Amino acid sequence: MKGFVFDAYGTLFDINSVIEACKYIIQDPEGFSKLWRAKQLEYTFLRSLMERYKDFWEVTEDALTFAINSFSISVSQVERKKLMETYLYLKPFAEVADALRHLKNYELAVLSNGSPMMLNTLLENSGLKHYFRYILSADEVRTYKPSPKVYALGPKYLGIPKEEIFFVSSNSFDVVGAKAFGFKVGWINRSGTQLDELGMKPDIIAITLEEMSGALGL
Ligand code: 2OP
Repeated sequence: MKGFVFDAYGTLFDINSVIEACKYIIQDPEGFSKLWRAKQLEYTFLRSLMERYKDFWEVTEDALTFAINSFSISVSQVERKKLMETYLYLKPFAEVADALRHLKNYELAVLSNGSPMMLNTLLENSGLKHYFRYILSADEVRTYKPSPKVYALGPKYLGIPKEEIFFVSSNSFDVVGAKAFGFKVGWINRSGTQLDELGMKPDIIAITLEEMSGALGL
């Protein structure tokens, strides 16, 4: 392996921080944030297939509107802004900084659906930005994962063949998409979900980045 490329949301960063913010506005914060995340991803798939790209910040806003309407609640502009801004202050998972330090001799990059603004702000705010040589956003190719066009940004910027890049994600669709593209893939299955039935399997399954590094003998 010459390089490691990481998904952002759910892999490096805990989206459950959104639930915290929802607690002040919604009775069922878990249910609300689950619907919000599901719609956010569904809209990326649908917009990619329709070839009607909007960046991840806008898609996240549209998904928030759907969730607010579904829960038939009224949310003020100030509250909406607060909910959206949680995406700029998500907490990294506990083991992430140590795991990245452990991989410092490799080329490291983030490759995410997040917009450049979202990713740069989040990585600054979390103090993790300095670990990465590149912060790669699907926005450059105006489509979303699991399109191979997004994963192709990895070899393009790292200058490493895809076979020598290890892609890390907690999201099943992303694991399958990255494997279909030709990366070696680690699935950080933090929530113990089932892998989607799409034919591709990850090379390593672990619960944390630390466990993954151990499995790689690093
Ligand atoms: C990503 O960061 C959406 O979690 C996915 O690209």
